[in-house]
Amino acid sequence: MKGIKKVADGIFWIGGSDRRLERFENIFPIPEGVSYNSYFIDDDKTAVFDTADITVADQYIENLKDALAGRKLDYLVVLHMEPDHCSLIDKVVALFPEVTVVGGKQTFTFMQQFFPQTADFNKFEVKEGDTLSTGSHTFSFVAAPMVHWPEVLFAYDDKNKALLSADAFGTFGALDGGIFADEFDFEKDFLASARRYYANIVGKYGPQVQAVLKKAAGLDIQMLLPLHGPVWRKNLDVILGKYQKWSTYESEEDSVIVVYGSLYGHTASAAEAVAAQLRDKGAGNVRVYDVSGTDVSYLIGEVWRARKIVLMCPTYNNGVYPPMENFITDMAALGVQNRVFALAQNGTWAPVTGKLMSEKLSALKNVTVLENVLTIKSALHATDADALNNFTDAIVSA
Ligand code: FEO
Repeated sequence: MKGIKKVADGIFWIGGSDRRLERFENIFPIPEGVSYNSYFIDDDKTAVFDTADITVADQYIENLKDALAGRKLDYLVVLHMEPDHCSLIDKVVALFPEVTVVGGKQTFTFMQQFFPQTADFNKFEVKEGDTLSTGSHTFSFVAAPMVHWPEVLFAYDDKNKALLSADAFGTFGALDGGIFADEFDFEKDFLASARRYYANIVGKYGPQVQAVLKKAAGLDIQMLLPLHGPVWRKNLDVILGKYQKWSTYESEEDSVIVVYGSLYGHTASAAEAVAAQLRDKGAGNVRVYDVSGTDVSYLIGEVWRARKIVLMCPTYNNGVYPPMENFITDMAALGVQNRVFALAQNGTWAPVTGKLMSEKLSALKNVTVLENVLTIKSALHATDADALNNFTDAIVSA
């Protein structure tokens, strides 16, 4: 059964949604599913922009054939050579051997690595500023290196003033029969997934996202067509505003997340006590997470939302509690900036994790690590009331 959606004048979505894949990139849990967007151009010449993941191959090929309605495919444009979008290139070329495959120089280098038969493809190499006309549409190519692979291209359709933006502005989440962001309650249905997608996958490349946003500012963009998630045709400022904040490592909210690790519940109880005091003292939207029970990709998403991060965990093998160490390593790898950290350590005989976490966090740029480390000796007691009070005071005032 075909699943084609009209996106704009002469542009049709022919992708697929996957709800069976457990982990995107075999790392990130996606209980909300994911869509792989491919765009068919119905013009004097026919074209598709990107293919889809192998997991939706049957649906994709059926959609493509239905969209073509017996015509031949003239162009296969490859904006991104990551396999969640390119894994069907060989199948499409096998179906339409005369198709011209369009991509940048590095696109074809990568294509050859994935598909040795690329040498036999009809190829048209483009670079930034080059154009491709299909008749009534002229697509201009914009280089978007490291957003989030080096070969990435965007394409701007002058007819619909639409930017085909590769992974940028994409999100986890199946499409549930819709296609436009304004068909959903984006904040409720997609924002957390879009933030988690951005932070974990593109988060390291903020300067590169800034560079491409500056280029895009010179275009009259009325639509955004990403490779995952809904298409934007209204209120583009919503997602553009988020990308401006996310790519400059600016928090969305002056709020607090408390992330704790706890072997037997004592640090967990202390975390709840910290959160309660923070709320009582007006810290606003305080959220508490168990670092052992929360996939780190969700914690990273929350780091992109909140300005203040409280880390609380026991000393373990004279080091940092391993799930917490993994979280801190991930933040460092993704280049987290502009955050305030408060640290609490638990240790029954030799608490050192506060010092060790502080040393690890010092590798992050433009962060403040509050000096006042809360030390818990096994469990928090009434005798710790002053220390707890001072700890939460320092967080609220930071
Ligand atoms: Fe959705 Fe970078 O691939």
